[in-house]
Amino acid sequence: MDHFGVIDLMTGYQPAAVVASGVRLGVFDALRSDPATPAELAARLGLAGAPVAALLPALERLGLAGPGPDGRFGLTEAGGWLTGDDGLALVSLKEAFFATVWSGLDTTLRTGAPVLRGWRERLASDPDQCLLFLRALRVLARLTGPDLTGLPALGAGRRVLDVGGGLGSYAVPLAAAGADVTIAELSPVAAWARHELADPAGLLGTVTVIEDDVLMEGRVGEDFDAVLVSHVLHDLADSDAVRLLAGARSRVAPGTDLVVFELAGDAPGTIGPFFDLMMQVEGPGRARRAPEVIDLVASAGWGRVAELPAARPHLLVGAVA
Ligand SMILES: C[S@@+](CC[C@H](N)C(=O)[O-])C[C@H]1O[C@@H](n2cnc3c(N)ncnc32)[C@H](O)[C@@H]1O
Repeated sequence: MDHFGVIDLMTGYQPAAVVASGVRLGVFDALRSDPATPAELAARLGLAGAPVAALLPALERLGLAGPGPDGRFGLTEAGGWLTGDDGLALVSLKEAFFATVWSGLDTTLRTGAPVLRGWRERLASDPDQCLLFLRALRVLARLTGPDLTGLPALGAGRRVLDVGGGLGSYAVPLAAAGADVTIAELSPVAAWARHELADPAGLLGTVTVIEDDVLMEGRVGEDFDAVLVSHVLHDLADSDAVRLLAGARSRVAPGTDLVVFELAGDAPGTIGPFFDLMMQVEGPGRARRAPEVIDLVASAGWGRVAELPAARPHLLVGAVA
């Protein structure tokens, strides 16, 4: 790497800010169907001409937009992913929030304490941000998540308890493929999920939502063939991760399958270590490697614990109650 390479690391906030502003101000949506010169775009959105004239070449360098033969800027395919209200634009808004959180990384490194308050407190104090976060996770599941419908434990006809299932990131694709999925969620996420999943189209199976704190022991009074714990353990310290897995175990009969999905701590490139840092800035969790997740699952009383085939950055672990 040369000096400019290191400087690029220091200015990594700039592309993120360009994308986030473009999303917030409607630049991508405006260019989607109607390419524009910088002056036309500024007039259309009520923005200042000079910075918009600099923004469009910046978007071009990022591969998100480009000028046509008439000099009007349109979007590339990747720029198109940042349009609408159910795509990567949501992820950009989520990350813009976390950029502010990461400004406290020094404190986390000094003290070991996360910058953010706990998830339950955030649900109470900043529900809009939490809802945006869960909607963004649903986008990430759709665009980058593993296809869980191919796993025999979660396939068509299976009754699946989706512990911490959010807004149905995986419940909906599983139900689309024919599983009957029950999302167990905290309040108010359960209410949000019920609202957002009130009228799901094109499902062969069903999605039901129950309010249930799975850190507690309990039965849900229904029989399940499988439990899914997707993208939940990394938010928790080891002791709570084991408690949650034991809580899930206490809700089902012996012989029930378990599938755990995580982003692996040894994911390639920067994903693994950055996700690990993210979990520690955000809360008490961690990104874990396969043997660590396997240990947690076994400690919670599940048997036949083993890693399932999955390409990194995905990590899948299976077990049986
Ligand atoms: C990071 S989100 C993952 C959502 C979804 N499973 C996915 O893969 O996109 C973690 C979810 O776990 C839920 N959760 C955390 N602790 C829980 C508990 N004790 N019982 C039930 N749900 C819980 C949170 O409310 C949140 O929606």
